[in-house]
Amino acid sequence: MKKTFKIAGIVVGGLLLVILALVAYLNFFFPKVSPAPKLTINATPEMIERGKYLANHVSVCIDCHSERDWTKFSGPVKPGTFGKGGEKFDKDGAGVPGEFYARNITPTNLRNWSDGDLYKTITTGVRKNGEPIFPLMPYLSYRSMDPEDVKSIIAYLRTLTPLEGSYPDAHLNFPMNLIVRTIPKDPTPSVRPDPKDTVKYGEYLVKIAACADCHTKMEKGQPLPGMRLAGGFEFKFPNGNVVRSANLTPSQETGIGLWTEEVFLGKFKIYRDSIGRNKSVTPDEFNSVMPWTMFAGMTDEDLKSIYRYFTTVDPVEHKVEKFTAHK
Ligand code: HEC
Ligand code: HEC
Repeated sequence: MKKTFKIAGIVVGGLLLVILALVAYLNFFFPKVSPAPKLTINATPEMIERGKYLANHVSVCIDCHSERDWTKFSGPVKPGTFGKGGEKFDKDGAGVPGEFYARNITPTNLRNWSDGDLYKTITTGVRKNGEPIFPLMPYLSYRSMDPEDVKSIIAYLRTLTPLEGSYPDAHLNFPMNLIVRTIPKDPTPSVRPDPKDTVKYGEYLVKIAACADCHTKMEKGQPLPGMRLAGGFEFKFPNGNVVRSANLTPSQETGIGLWTEEVFLGKFKIYRDSIGRNKSVTPDEFNSVMPWTMFAGMTDEDLKSIYRYFTTVDPVEHKVEKFTAHK
């Protein structure tokens, strides 16, 4: 009897040691990314313009990093909160395993960050303090952004009106608090394709806009194989309503296979004027997390490139019910 206890004790003790060693290993050696690059950005007006375009209408940094008005369709950004942060993501709303806030990315918070610090955070997901960001911020997509575009975004962030706003540190539940440390990777910079090469350029835009992050169904935090861009990713609203992303593959039955370029463009154009941007919705009505009002600011050429790229991906039959009101 005594002997069994002793053996059990050794086994449990041994296991504990292994776990402790693993935790220590992950904490000391991860996230495993290179130090911030030495970088000085000499911002030109063109860079700031390009950065403003990307941050507001393509990579939509400003969408997450501002307060959104959910009394209106697709939660447009509240005026005067650009870059202030404060949107809370938790189990109930975003369905994430923990609780964290989009941070203040105005100069109030980023004053002491070098250009290299920002470059590193955007392209690897590791903050200046060394902590990894949960991949809700699509840094695995920003990772392959053309360095010139990353620099333009940084140049633009420096021009934001400084706003007050500080939030509690991220809290992730076990084991995500450890797993998240293994997610950030070094950047894999690409060269922005020539916009005249519309399909390639569209592919690049889809990448840095992270369309597939929302438009691919996930299971246990992993995109389902063979389902890229086929929709069905669920988002819950606080009242229990569920919206699911649409199938963007060229399937004729269940995707956008029968849409013309004009139809595709039309979906975005609705949100270009102040009526489209200010459509009131009650909590019981259809609403969407897709930042339509921001993407609507993309140029017709860029939206057409995205459309052309979508026509080249493999069609996937996948019927999605876009919205279910709570019972
Ligand atoms: C889908 C939402 C989302 C998008 C889009 C997004 N972010 Fe973030 N970002 C977050 C969240 C959430 C955090 C903080 C997580 C945490 O506390 O660990 C964060 C953290 C950061 C930080 C770290 C700030 C600090 O104080 O440590 C910077 C800088 C940043 N984001 C910049 C950007 C830029 C630039 C873009 C666009 C290229 C962008 N983000 C796009 C959600 C987003
Ligand atoms: C934050 C998540 C999110 C991101 C990012 C996102 N979408 Fe969506 N998208 C959705 C959801 C949810 C729906 C379904 C509800 C709706 O129609 O708004 C949707 C619907 C759509 C529709 C279908 C509209 C219809 O009438 O059937 C199109 C087209 C679309 N998205 C294109 C895009 C493109 C292009 C991008 C990248 C530039 C993108 N989405 C990025 C969440 C997202």
